[in-house]
Amino acid sequence: MNGEAKPRGVLWAGRLAEKPGAEAFAFQSSLGVDRRLAQQDIAGSRAHAAMLGRRGIIPPETARALDGELARLAEELASGALAVDGGAEDIHSFIEGVLTERLGDAGRMVHAGRSRNDQVAVDFRLYLKEAVPGARDELGETIRVLLDRAEEHAAAVMPGYTHLQRAQPVTLGFHLCAWACALDRDRGRLGDALGRLDECPLGAGALAGSGLPLDREDTAKALGFARVSLNAMDSVADRDFALEIAAAVSIAMTHLSRFCEDLVLWASGEFGFVDLTESWSTGSSLMPQKKNPDFAELIRGKTGRAAGNLVTLLTLLKGLPYAYNKDLQEDKEALFDSLDTLRSCLRMFRGMLSAAVFNLGRMRAACTGGFLEATDAADYLVRKGLPFRKAHETAALVVRDCLEAGEDSIARRSLGDLRRRSALFDEDLYAALEPEACVKSRNLPGGSAPEEVARQIEALRRRV
Ligand code: ARG
Repeated sequence: MNGEAKPRGVLWAGRLAEKPGAEAFAFQSSLGVDRRLAQQDIAGSRAHAAMLGRRGIIPPETARALDGELARLAEELASGALAVDGGAEDIHSFIEGVLTERLGDAGRMVHAGRSRNDQVAVDFRLYLKEAVPGARDELGETIRVLLDRAEEHAAAVMPGYTHLQRAQPVTLGFHLCAWACALDRDRGRLGDALGRLDECPLGAGALAGSGLPLDREDTAKALGFARVSLNAMDSVADRDFALEIAAAVSIAMTHLSRFCEDLVLWASGEFGFVDLTESWSTGSSLMPQKKNPDFAELIRGKTGRAAGNLVTLLTLLKGLPYAYNKDLQEDKEALFDSLDTLRSCLRMFRGMLSAAVFNLGRMRAACTGGFLEATDAADYLVRKGLPFRKAHETAALVVRDCLEAGEDSIARRSLGDLRRRSALFDEDLYAALEPEACVKSRNLPGGSAPEEVARQIEALRRRV
């Protein structure tokens, strides 16, 4: 042993007489990250040991002893009675090391027909089978909060924007419902990835399977996998599941980031659409008046991490020769971070949104004065038989007339003035141009009419 490293459970001591020094050993150890997989590693070992016993590869009493000790280990780790010590190379070496310290040769039997390459693939998948539904539930919970707030404000008119220029009146409920639709797709993406990752690599060995009479169906079933993987080499080389989840998380974070950008704008004095409340804001160390939307900004900022983690994984895999390479050890830190980040950001976003106080008066006021009713004026003429292109031009000329006359709304123009542009304009135009009327008229599927938004909310509620 070179230097002071005397790690528990180095699994390859037979081959290498010289060992890395302490710093080098620590550099290649993944224990700090994969200690999170301890329970999954134990579950995998229990299934594997029981199968080895059933197949007569190890004596039945050895299988029983292994199972008992592994169960004890799981409890001790959960209660903190046993600490994962820093000396092991990874969680797999640590667990096998403890087993061997406690059981001697029985501990040395557990790895028959197995490699850390299939073991880590199993552990990682088992972990994700728990963690990803958790993230999905957080998305569902966030959608529910959005829908509650959307329902509350289904009829509250506000400007809808394109190019960040006021475009047409919508409702706050409609806008929040749009956000919920995006998060619903994120749930779907995570669900799709879960379906594909639900296969058991155990039995793939290092890369080529095993000559021992393992029963792969047995371990897959014991671990709750839907099926065994098809090809051993693919099973240890594949990290598509990590990529898919990192991509889905990155998309979800990008959604949150965009919502937060809206909130940051809305919370500004210039918009004044929302008060994010004092408990969801922070102050300035210098400027006494400040109340900053830091939570929204930080969620937006953390989106960079999720994108970075996805790029980390893509870069890790690009150019990686088949099958396993130690590079793959870097996969877990990136994906753990993505999932942790998404979950904490969803919790913060929910809290902030539940508390937010919307300034409905400011939103309503912002619907007048920006010609948001111009499309409805054109549609009015279309309803009266004018070809749309002509109707568009007429409404545009009316807008120009208003601007020249210093008027900020088509509704403020007299009927006489309007009729100089088209004889089709009539008294009923004024009612049609009220923001509430504009919104109400868009009652087709997907539209912003309150009763249609209620239907959208209902559809989303059914999905979550
Ligand atoms: N700690 C390793 C990882 O996370 C486990 C697999 C190691 N396999 C090996 N042949 N070195 O990828």
